[in-house]
Amino acid sequence: MAIERTLSIIKPDATRRNLTGKVNAMLEAGGLRIVAQKRLLLTRAQAESFYAVHKERPFFDDLCTFMTSGPVVVQVLEGENAVAKNREIMGATDPSKAAEGTIRKTYAESIESNSAHGSDSLENAAIEIAYFFSATAIVG
Ligand code: CMP
Repeated sequence: MAIERTLSIIKPDATRRNLTGKVNAMLEAGGLRIVAQKRLLLTRAQAESFYAVHKERPFFDDLCTFMTSGPVVVQVLEGENAVAKNREIMGATDPSKAAEGTIRKTYAESIESNSAHGSDSLENAAIEIAYFFSATAIVG
């Protein structure tokens, strides 16, 4: 297995409940290393651009409203098979379908307020990481 990097976002429902440390502990316990991290308030334009792939979906507008409703923590995770590993630690998008012990099963409020985002492929991980971090801001 290769060492990969993936983009993770701790979403506004989780920062509002002060869960950043608890989510980070689950990521670290799962074998991932947080090699870059920052807390920010996304602008509407940033949220729309980040989720542009979903712009025809009925939930797009609400998703962008939610993602700009409070601070997010964007982070680069590194480790063996990091893209798939992070998705395993997060659990399914819909928390009612997520496995026990996952971030979304434990903390998500709904399919929209689902506490965490993770890149869905290595190719998208590179694009999403570059969206938020310069190469010098990532320290492995
Ligand atoms: P995320 O992994 O950030 O990628 C896209 C997001 O859209 C997803 O998590 C959910 O928060 C949201 N999403 C996906 N499907 C739905 C849906 N059916 N209804 C509302 N929000 C959704």
